[in-house]
Amino acid sequence: MPSIRSHTGASLSGAITVPGDKSISHRALMIGALAVGETTICGLLEGEDVLATAAAMRQLGAEIESRENVWHVYGRGIGGLIEPSGVLDLGNSGTAARLLMGVLAAHDISATLTGDDSLSSRPMERVMAPLREIGAQFVARSGGKLPVTITGSGTALPGDQTLKVASAQVKSAILLAGLNAQGNTIVTEPQPSRDHTEKMLSFFGADITTQENSDGSRQITLVGQPEITGQDIVVPGDISSAAFPIVAALITPGSDLMIENIGINPLRAGLLQSLQEMGAEIGILNERENAGEPIADIHVRASALTGATIPASRAPSMIDEYPILSVAAAAAEGTSVFEGVGELRVKESDRLEAMAAGLKGCGVETEATEDTLTIHGTGAAPKGGCTIASRLDHRIAMSYLVLGLASENPIAVDDGGPIETSFPGFIELMNGLGANMEPA
Ligand code: S3P
Repeated sequence: MPSIRSHTGASLSGAITVPGDKSISHRALMIGALAVGETTICGLLEGEDVLATAAAMRQLGAEIESRENVWHVYGRGIGGLIEPSGVLDLGNSGTAARLLMGVLAAHDISATLTGDDSLSSRPMERVMAPLREIGAQFVARSGGKLPVTITGSGTALPGDQTLKVASAQVKSAILLAGLNAQGNTIVTEPQPSRDHTEKMLSFFGADITTQENSDGSRQITLVGQPEITGQDIVVPGDISSAAFPIVAALITPGSDLMIENIGINPLRAGLLQSLQEMGAEIGILNERENAGEPIADIHVRASALTGATIPASRAPSMIDEYPILSVAAAAAEGTSVFEGVGELRVKESDRLEAMAAGLKGCGVETEATEDTLTIHGTGAAPKGGCTIASRLDHRIAMSYLVLGLASENPIAVDDGGPIETSFPGFIELMNGLGANMEPA
């Protein structure tokens, strides 16, 4: 996709939906491929990241097809995947790569995983180390980077592992490996991270329990080799995608927007609380539940935002939303401090650096340390008038396009292509609401 520029346009109004939840979509394809029988998936995110997972699962022997907007996965059963004849290319997707390593760790096969320049610079040791404990072997590029060849174990050992970082990807990889281990797999995470894997495994029939400890950590126990059978899954809209129109509406005067059918799992919804603390008028309506996942419609009106301090304890529940929260902070009046956000340095790009440098370029006073970001909003429109490198990072590209809607001068991003990984149709959807985004 070419370079894209956004500038102030009309207020944003209407009722919309956004594409399906990326985390849930990856898990539905992988767990469906490991179940016995047919799984149907409605609302699957048809973005590049999830399509990479679908392609990889097909290479591993699962039959997967899309008919009339419903995806059908014919599973091979736990331990039933076959060795792929080619390399598995996971594109830009860290979730695809790390969760798949977990799946493969407990299969008696070898596979080589690769990805784009962004994914190939991201740390994989955090997932390889616990998977070695259960019997998998890896050959990786130096520094534990992709491409990685994994040789799994058909006799995987059930592990009892304590994670150093609250990472849903690492936790999920261990649990997915534990599906094919004899005995209980136990994972303890220092803070709760998104629990879509636990919820979905339980929905498919696995015996999985979570215990909250008094120090705030969580212990998850999965009984190995369960009988999991195909299910019908409905994927809710992705709150991490809804975040962009939500903040766009908040910072564009006169806006009034309804975003329907969004997953509001409390371990994902930290952004809503943070924005409300900044003075955002956000209503959560029609709360309901599907397959254990809470869903709601979100009503948002343009609001006068003020700066806020967001504590480290909230980071896991909004880890992907800091780039767009930075945009809200840049348009707010007063200082915002995001504490304990060092993990942002190892996402699709170094997001701490991308937001600090880009916001400064847009005329917003910003400081970053190793794990904090401080943004001084003045309440006036940021100057803008710059071109931002999207760094193969969809959320960086979309965040700056949203900021351009409320800046004095247009903001361009050099490459809109990465948006396709998570939010196909983003530009058209935003322009349909009244935004002004166009090829630069
Ligand atoms: C994800 C977990 C998070 C998140 C990523 C999706 C998942 O990563 O940033 O976009 O689906 O499990 P970490 O687990 O590395 O924090």
